[in-house]
Amino acid sequence: MVSQFSVIENPSLMNIKKAQLDDVATLFEIEHEISTMGWSIQNFKDALQFYEVWLISTQDEPADVVGFVILQTILDELHLLNIVVSLKHQGQGWGKALLEYAISQAQKKNCSVIYLELRSSNKVARNLYRQYGFAQTGTRKGYYPCTDGTREDARLMMLMIS
Ligand SMILES: CC(C)(COP(=O)(O)OP(=O)(O)OC[C@H]1O[C@@H](n2cnc3c(N)ncnc32)[C@H](O)[C@@H]1OP(=O)(O)O)[C@@H](O)C(=O)NCCC(=O)NCCS
Repeated sequence: MVSQFSVIENPSLMNIKKAQLDDVATLFEIEHEISTMGWSIQNFKDALQFYEVWLISTQDEPADVVGFVILQTILDELHLLNIVVSLKHQGQGWGKALLEYAISQAQKKNCSVIYLELRSSNKVARNLYRQYGFAQTGTRKGYYPCTDGTREDARLMMLMIS
């Protein structure tokens, strides 16, 4: 369970903003750098309409877009729908910054829990979530399609917020 989180202390979060319609191409580009089975342009447009899409950039001039996190609030639940860091920025702490931001949003909205799901094979993301106290609550058999035509299980994870 997470009790306190001070994102204000994280300098990476100085450059986080809500994505707009003209960011859709950038979101799509980042997503498709890491997966050919990712969200479509229309998925991102829908996400802007129905969810919150937060885009994080470097503080350089001009800023380099680093990644994004997509959040859905349902009553007191925050659903983390997607989190992606572009290839060239991976392994530098940006994933943690985005996840910390998601947790801070859950706290701000008085959510009691964050839910997410990920591919069973996604060790990097699993390590990240575990670091922040997420626990696996179940699996969804054959949930994700794979490029070779087979399917892969989803792991369901949650984090209680006090
Ligand atoms: C998952 C993802 C968002 C992590 O972002 P990142 O910026 O690379 O991660 P960070 O540098 O902040 O590292 C955070 C933690 O992730 C884990 N991690 C990062 N790189 C790793 C690697 N190569 N191997 C194993 N664990 C790794 C570690 O636990 C790390 O913490 P540590 O540095 O204290 O050991 C990023 O790899 C990504 O965009 N992956 C593709 C999209 C994806 O899988 N999203 C998750 C969907 S559920």
